[in-house]
This record gives sequence, C-alpha cells and structure tokens, in this order.
Amino acid sequence: MWKKVVAVLIGILVGIWLFDDFDQSTLKGKRVLITGASTGIGEQMAYHYAQMGAKIVVTARREQRLKEVVAKCREAGDADGQYEYIAADMSDMASTLTVVQDAVNKLGGLDILVLNHITLIPLTPWNGSRENLTLLDNVININFRAYIHLASHALPHIEKSHGSIIVVSSYAGKVGQPFLTEYSASKFALDGFFSSLRQEMKIKNCDISITLCIIGFIGTENSIHQLEEAGQQFLIDFLKPASPSDAALAIIKGGVKRAREMYFPYFQVKPILLLKEWFPELCDFINRWVYTQMP
Ligand SMILES: NC(=O)c1ccc[n+]([C@@H]2O[C@H](COP(=O)([O-])OP(=O)(O)OC[C@H]3O[C@@H](n4cnc5c(N)ncnc54)[C@H](OP(=O)(O)O)[C@@H]3O)[C@@H](O)[C@H]2O)c1
Ligand SMILES: *[C@@H]1O[C@H](CO)[C@@H](O)[C@H](O)[C@H]1NC(C)=O
Ligand SMILES: *[C@@H]1O[C@H](CO)[C@@H](O)[C@H](O)[C@H]1NC(C)=O
Repeated sequence: MWKKVVAVLIGILVGIWLFDDFDQSTLKGKRVLITGASTGIGEQMAYHYAQMGAKIVVTARREQRLKEVVAKCREAGDADGQYEYIAADMSDMASTLTVVQDAVNKLGGLDILVLNHITLIPLTPWNGSRENLTLLDNVININFRAYIHLASHALPHIEKSHGSIIVVSSYAGKVGQPFLTEYSASKFALDGFFSSLRQEMKIKNCDISITLCIIGFIGTENSIHQLEEAGQQFLIDFLKPASPSDAALAIIKGGVKRAREMYFPYFQVKPILLLKEWFPELCDFINRWVYTQMP
C-alpha cells in the first residue's frame, strides 16, 4: 500500500518538475520591449532574454546605464544579436507612443511587451497633505497610466504576432501595505485594468496572453535602499530578499507559459494570498506586524 502512495507522490513531483520546465528555444528571435530595464529586475530580464536568443529593446531614463545594459546583453547573447535602447521618461504620456513606435521600427514588430518600470518613493505614512496628493498623481502616471498607454499602443502589433504582455506587479498589488499607499494603489489598479482587458481579449478570441506577476521581496539595490532608509532592517532580515536574476527568470517563464498570473517567490507570496481570502484580518495583522518591528 505505502509503496503505491510513494510511487504516486514521486509521480506527482516528477510531473510538477516536468510541467515547470519551459522551452527556452521558443524565445529565439522573439522581439521584446522591456521598460525599467536600466537596473533591478528589468535589467536582469534583458540578460536572460539575450541569452535565450531574443531581440531586445530596453528603455528607462538613464541613457548611460542603458548603453551598459546593451553591451552586457551582447556578452550574454549573440555578439551580432539585436540589442538596442531608447531613453525616455514614462511620466510623459507622449513618450509612451514614441517608445512603442521606435521599438516596433527597430525590431520590425513586437512579440513581448514587459511593463516593469516604477518610480521610487520612500516608505512613509499618508497624512493627506498637498505633498501626498502631488506624489499620488506622479505615481499613478508612471506606475499605472504609462502601463495602459504603452499596452494600448503596442496592442495592434502584439495581436498580429499572437504575443504577450507581461505586467510586473507586486504582493502590494494584492494586499494593502502600510506606508506604501500610492505604490500599492497603483499596483491594485493594474490588476483591475489588465484582468478586465484579458476578459475582452478572450471575448474577441484574440490570441494574446496577459500575465500579471505577483512579486514578493526582491533584493534589488533600490528596494534594499528604500527599506534601510525607512529603518526597516527587521523586514530585510525577516523576509530574506530573493535574487533579482531569479525573479527575472521566473517572470520570463510565466510569460512563455502564457500564465494568467505568476507568483515569486511562490511560497513567500501564495500562502498569504490564500490566507487573505478566508482570514483577511489575520493576513492584515501579519503585514502590520512585519512593518512595525522597527526599533
Ligand atoms: N524589488 C522588489 O522587492 C519588488 C517587489 C515587488 C514588485 N517589484 C516590481 O518589480 C518591478 C521592478 O522593480 P525593481 O526593484 O527592479 O525596480 P528598480 O531597480 O527601482 O528599477 C526601476 C526601473 O524603472 C526606471 N524608471 C524609474 N522612473 C522612471 C521614469 N519616470 N520613466 C522611465 N523609467 C523609469 C528606472 O530607470 P531610470 O532611473 O534610468 O529611469 C529603473 O530602470 C517593479 O514593477 C516593481 O514594482 C519589485
Ligand atoms: C501632514 O504632516 C505635516 C508634517 O509632517 C504637517 O505639516 C501637515 O499639517 C499634515 N497635514 C495634514 C493634512 O494633516
Ligand atoms: C505625506 O506628507 C507628509 C507631510 O507633508 C510627508 O512627511 C510624508 O512623507 C508623505 N507621505 C506620503 C506617503 O506621500
């Protein structure tokens, strides 16, 4: 009896392992536009895509950093592969159109749009001041409206290629976080928009995938710096940040699988989301507790 149970368990594990595998070769020659790719997770995504044979356009504001990323893509991928950059500021909605047009011209079309950039904001309480309201406008423009504008301009090209839109969101886009009001709001809004758009695509029988990425704590330079500035050393030690490169690879996998949503690190993010469904007070309590352990 127990032998059968063990055999079935091993079968399930092997199944999961096989199922979790993904065929990198499907990305060969794919045309990819990545926003916020001068640092952090976006930068690491560029190197993975390059190594898998994709053609890439990276965008962010800092031209010098983008040049360095393009040079490193060439090292990671084919020396004569196509790796380019466009410097642009996503607080300006007019540039979302030029970025998409330039990228499509450079690549001769578009298969994958990775929406990943965010504006940096400190962890501070909301008190309804004029300053707070001004920052809110800025965050919603960059983290939310620019994503919608970029996706809208790219949609006809992605429809043509039966491609994918990858939306990098956060655990903070599923569970409200203290001291991150504007950021959390912008990520919740992405869920609302893109989950609705996905429905319309299905109704239209339009073969494009939209993957919403629910990301936990990743040790990018900026995220560690912001938490340290806010005196959240406890949170850093408690949650143990995952590597930006691993996060980038998991996001790429989610896109290839055309998953509806992906979670990374899975066991940091998914259990607490399930908890939220049935025990929201407990979920909130845990979140508050983590953020209020500062000395
Ligand atoms: N790190 C984490 O712990 C974590 C957790 C959950 C979710 N995420 C999500 O993962 C994604 C990447 O996060 P990350 O930590 O890798 O971020 P990051 O290192 O701070 O990178 C942000 C990127 O956005 C660009 N950017 C900032 N403002 C911009 C603007 N106005 N216009 C155009 N580009 C702009 C930055 O480049 P320039 O300064 O050169 O413009 C940079 O390339 C984000 O969507 C984030 O919400 C991260
Ligand atoms: C918000 O806090 C600042 C100081 O931190 C204070 O000057 C201001 O009056 C507060 N605003 C509101 C609306 O409470
Ligand atoms: C809100 O405004 C106050 C004072 O104006 C500031 O100290 C605080 O950092 C702001 N917080 C956010 C989340 O914008």
